[in-house]
Amino acid sequence: MNLSRRRLLETGWKIGGGLLGVIAGWTSWELLRPLKAAGATGKIKVGSPGNFQKDTATYFGQGRFWVVNTSGHIFALSQKCPHLGCRVPFCESSGRFECPCHGTQFDLGGEWISGPSPRGMDQFELSIEDGDLVVDTSKKTDGPDHGARQFYRDPLGPSCAGNG
Ligand code: FES
Repeated sequence: MNLSRRRLLETGWKIGGGLLGVIAGWTSWELLRPLKAAGATGKIKVGSPGNFQKDTATYFGQGRFWVVNTSGHIFALSQKCPHLGCRVPFCESSGRFECPCHGTQFDLGGEWISGPSPRGMDQFELSIEDGDLVVDTSKKTDGPDHGARQFYRDPLGPSCAGNG
């Protein structure tokens, strides 16, 4: 009788210990597994093309991109700097995108002007559905190579980052 009670207790401890191990493993996985990238992905409707005035940049935080209208073209530019991934703001005074991390400057079309970025700003696919512009953040193409100067223009005024 004593022997079977001891065995029952030992078996109970083993089962309990095993369950604790499983629970601890599951909890650790939940804590350590990689997080999905923040921000919405997929198609985002941004409104009529006529809403985007000439030579402007409009930010859409939901998808983390800029919609720009320059020289008769409309682009959806990723906010993520191709150098090391910092968020690139638009500087109203210079009329350029200026990365605050290492000073890369891009023109309004997202083309590289100066700094360590290996290329211009990446672009998301843009289409028109029912008269509205739709940006697809799941479809990205690399920005233009250095030397693309289709949208270059001299700075409108002082740099926000103090780069001239
Ligand atoms: S992350 Fe933009 S210049 Fe380095």
